[in-house]
This record gives sequence, structure tokens and C-alpha cells, in this order.
Amino acid sequence: MSKTTITTLNGMKQRGEKIVTLTAYDASFARLAEQAGVDVLLVGDSLGMVVQGQESTLPVTVGDMVYHTANVARVCERAMILADMPFMSHGTPQQALDTAGRLMKEGGAHMVKIEGGAPQVETVRHLTERAVPVCAHLGLTPQSIRQLGGYRVQGRDAQAATRLIEDALALQQAGAQLLVLECIPSTLAAEVTGKLDIPVIGIGAGPDTDGQVLVLYDMLGISVNRIPGFAHDFLADTGSVPAALAAYVSAVREGCFPAAEHGFS
Ligand code: KIV
Repeated sequence: MSKTTITTLNGMKQRGEKIVTLTAYDASFARLAEQAGVDVLLVGDSLGMVVQGQESTLPVTVGDMVYHTANVARVCERAMILADMPFMSHGTPQQALDTAGRLMKEGGAHMVKIEGGAPQVETVRHLTERAVPVCAHLGLTPQSIRQLGGYRVQGRDAQAATRLIEDALALQQAGAQLLVLECIPSTLAAEVTGKLDIPVIGIGAGPDTDGQVLVLYDMLGISVNRIPGFAHDFLADTGSVPAALAAYVSAVREGCFPAAEHGFS
């Protein structure tokens, strides 16, 4: 079984093969997701909401992220493990380096994810010049929820769309090797995906990115939170967790999920 690396993902982008990503927070679900064929397991700070029952991702600590990343990494043999840098853990390049060091050394993460655009460029450069692989995250960035004022589609007006494209290019230039686009119009996501050399993973960003990610508990329909309209309950379709994971993997690979109705205009 060969390991999924950034080289694997770059090859998939070049060949037009969809990259299947799913969140995981513990060993049992991580193993099932890997067995179903998920390429990238994201230990997302969404764990604050779906596992801890918090109102937002803001209370999640570096310790929480290290703990859950280690639980996932311990049992995975093939999937790439991406771990979120939580709120207030990457305020300066040095703080970000300390956090990423813990996530990789203690947690076993293969790459770290940082929310934010232009203000994060210097931090991304600092990390990538020191052998820390980085995934950027643009669009709806849940750690900024108090500034955004709600979980809304981003990048709808021309100015915001232009800024998002510029940010994506600047983050790639700074060394980011992967990009997550969350809750933006499908046409904008397609444009960014076409402009970037690095793989782009969408969530609520329509069908034309290089891959998709969902929050595990949303695609099983078991979250304590409101399940977003761009998600789909694969457990309701299939009746068992392994079958739901397999259905998600093949729906993404075959380009059936997300469909147009899971995106925004
Ligand atoms: O924390 C998370 O699960 C995420 C995804 C929603 C992309 O960042």
C-alpha cells in the first residue's frame, strides 16, 4: 500500500483525478475512512463543534489538535494527515512554527492547515522555508466567524473575488502546497483551481475543484450542529458507516458529488 504524499496529490491534479478528503478525529473512524479509500484525512478544528459541542471552532487548543491528530495518525498507513492550526496558534511566524512543530512531531501530521489570506503569507513562507508543508484555507474561514458575522458565502462581489484570487496566488508563491476553498461561488472556485498549480480542495465550492472535503459527522448526518446545505447524508443513502464512506469516496472520484445543487452562485 503506497503512502499518499503531496507528490501523489500533484499527480492526481495533473491527471484530473479527484482528491477525496474527509475530516477524522479518532482512530476508529480514521481507519474506516482510510479503508474506504480516502486520500487525505483532515483533523479539522471543526472537532470543537462536532466532538466537543462548542458553538464555534475558537475554543479549540493546540493540545486538543495534537491529541486528536495523534489518535488519527496512530492507525493510518496510507492516507495523508492534514492538521488544522487552531485559532490564536499562528499569530506570528514563530508561534506558527512552534504550533506546527507540535502537530508534526507529537501529532504525526504530514501537513498543517492555516486559515487566512494576505496576512498569512509571511507565516506560510516562514514555515515552508523550514520544511513544514502548508495547506492554505480561503473563503469562509471559521476562525474569523466573529468578524464575518455568520457562516455566509464569501467572494460574491467582484472586489472580494479579486482579492481571493490574489491571496491564493500569493500563498502558493509563499510555498503553500495545497489550498482549501470553503463556501465560495462555484465559478470563482473553478477559476482559482484553473489558475493554481497546487491542488485545490473544495467544500461548498462546487464541482470544479481538484478534490472535495466534508466534515465526517455532516456526511453521516449525525452532527449536533446544523448540517450545511452543501453537505449530503451518505449514511441515510446506505445504512452503514463503511458503506456511507465508500459511497462518498466513489461519488467524489466519479465527479457525482458535489453536484451543482451543492454549490453557490
Ligand atoms: O475544520 C475543518 O473541518 C475544516 C473543513 C471544514 C475544511 O477546516
